[in-house]
Amino acid sequence: MKLNIVILAAGQGKRMNSAKPKVLHELGGKPILLHVLETASKLNPSKLVVVYGHGGEVVKSSISQYTLTHDIFWVKQDEQLGTGHALKQALPYLDNDGVTLVLYGDVPLLGVSTLQLMLQQISNNVVMLTIDIANPYGYGRVVRDVDNQIIGIVEEKDANCLEKAITEINTGVYIFPNRYLASWLNQLANNNHQHEYYLTDVIKFAHKEQLLISAVRATSEEKVLGVNNKVQLEQLERFYNQLQAIKLMESGVTIKDKSRIEVRGELHSGSDCVIDVNCVFEGIVTLGNNVQIGAGCIIKNVKIYDNVVVKPYSIIEDAIVNSDCQIGPFARIRPGTVLGNQAHIGNFVEIKNSTVGEASKVNHLTYIGDAEIGSKVNVGAGSVTCNYDGKNKFKTIIADDVFVGSGTMMVAPLTIGKGSVIGAGSTITRDTPENELTVARAKQTTIIGWVKRNKKTD
Ligand code: UD1
Ligand code: CA
Repeated sequence: MKLNIVILAAGQGKRMNSAKPKVLHELGGKPILLHVLETASKLNPSKLVVVYGHGGEVVKSSISQYTLTHDIFWVKQDEQLGTGHALKQALPYLDNDGVTLVLYGDVPLLGVSTLQLMLQQISNNVVMLTIDIANPYGYGRVVRDVDNQIIGIVEEKDANCLEKAITEINTGVYIFPNRYLASWLNQLANNNHQHEYYLTDVIKFAHKEQLLISAVRATSEEKVLGVNNKVQLEQLERFYNQLQAIKLMESGVTIKDKSRIEVRGELHSGSDCVIDVNCVFEGIVTLGNNVQIGAGCIIKNVKIYDNVVVKPYSIIEDAIVNSDCQIGPFARIRPGTVLGNQAHIGNFVEIKNSTVGEASKVNHLTYIGDAEIGSKVNVGAGSVTCNYDGKNKFKTIIADDVFVGSGTMMVAPLTIGKGSVIGAGSTITRDTPENELTVARAKQTTIIGWVKRNKKTD
C-alpha cells in the first residue's frame, strides 16, 4: 500500500506576532516544519507533499538548506480557505491506490510510533488521532454515537452545549484511503460559522458511506498539540528539552538538573559523562567517555574525546578536543581549532583556527589565532599572536618544546624555533632560532633624581 503524506502548512500563524512564517520558528534548534518533515520521512512515504501559502517562498528556501531523505512536492494554496481546501490542493499528487496521512506543519513533536500505530489500523477505513484533554476549548470535538462509533467532528464555533462538553478532541491527524478523497473533498461546503472548507467534514462523509472511523488516542498533549503562539512554543521547547535530557540520562549521562540543560540539536555521549547545570549544546556535539562539562558552557558542533574536563563558562564552537584536555574556566575555543591530547587551555584564553599540540599549555589571558602550536609548548599569561595587520591574516608557528614568556606579542607571519625560550614582555617580529633565548624589549633603566625633580614637595 502506497503511503502519501500531506503536511498542511499554509496558515499564517498570526498569533506568533512575527514577520517570520510560523513553521520556520525554531524548536530544539531547527524549524518546526523540519521536525515534521523528518518524522514524515521516517515513515518512508511514496509522496511527501507540503501545502504552503503565506510566506511560502521563504519556507521553501529555508527548508531546502537541509538534507532530507525524501523529495518534497511543494503545493501552493493561494488563499487560506480552510483545512479541507488545503488538502484538496494536494489531490493531483496523490496515488489513487494509496492512503494519505495528513499532518500539520505546526505540530513538531508528534512521534513516529504513534503514526505507525495509526497505519497499522488502516484498511478500508479512516483512522484519526484524538486525545482527551481537560480543557478542549477551541478544538474540534469528536462526536460518537450510542455505540461509541465516531460519526463526525464539530468545530468549537459550530458546537452546541452538549458537544462543547466533549473532551475528546480532533488533533487534525488522519489517514484516508485515497480513492474516496477526491469525491469527499469536492463535496465540502463552507456553510459553517467560519465560512471555511473544513477537512473535518470528511469524517461525516466517511460515516455516510459506512466506512469505519477508528481512532488512536494519544496520551501526551505536548506531542499532538501545535504551536500557535510564543507561549506554546516555549512550552514545547521545555518539553522537548526534558525528553532529550531523559534520553541522555537513560543512556548513562549524569545530568545535574534536567530542567537546566538545552539540547538544540544532537548530543551523543559515551559512558560516564557528567553535565553540570545551564549548559547549551547546539548542532552536533559528540562526547567520548568520562567527559565532564562544567556549569554554563555553550558547546556547538564539537567533537570531544575521552576524559576531557571543560570547566565552567567555556564556549567551544566547531572544534575538535582530543583526549585528556582541560579547558576553562572562561575559555573561548573558536571554529577551526584542534586541541591535541592533554592540552590545557585556561581562563580568559581565546583560540581561533589553530592547532595546539599534545600536552601544550595556554593557561591564562591569551589570544591564539591562525597558529600551529607544537607539543609540550608553554604559552605564558597575556601573550598574543598578532595575526592581523588590518587587511590580511598571517600564521604563527610555535614549534615543539617552546617556552613563551608572559606578555609576549608574536607578530605574524612568524616561526618560533623548536625548543626556544622567549623572554617575558618581548615583541617578536622575526623568526627565532632553535634552542636559544630570544628577548626583544627595551632594556630597563633607572633615571636617578627624576622623581625629586618632577614631584612637587612642600
Ligand atoms: C483544526 C481542526 C480542528 C482540530 C485542530 C487541531 C478543521 C476545520 N479543524 O482546527 O478540528 O481540533 O485543527 O489543532 O480542520 N491550514 C492550511 N490552510 C488553510 C487552513 C489551515 O494549510 O486554509 C493549515 C495550518 O497551517 C495548520 C493546520 O492547517 O497547520 C490547521 O489549521 P488551524 O487553523 O490551526 O486549524 P484549526 O481551525 O485550529
Ligand atoms: Ca492550530
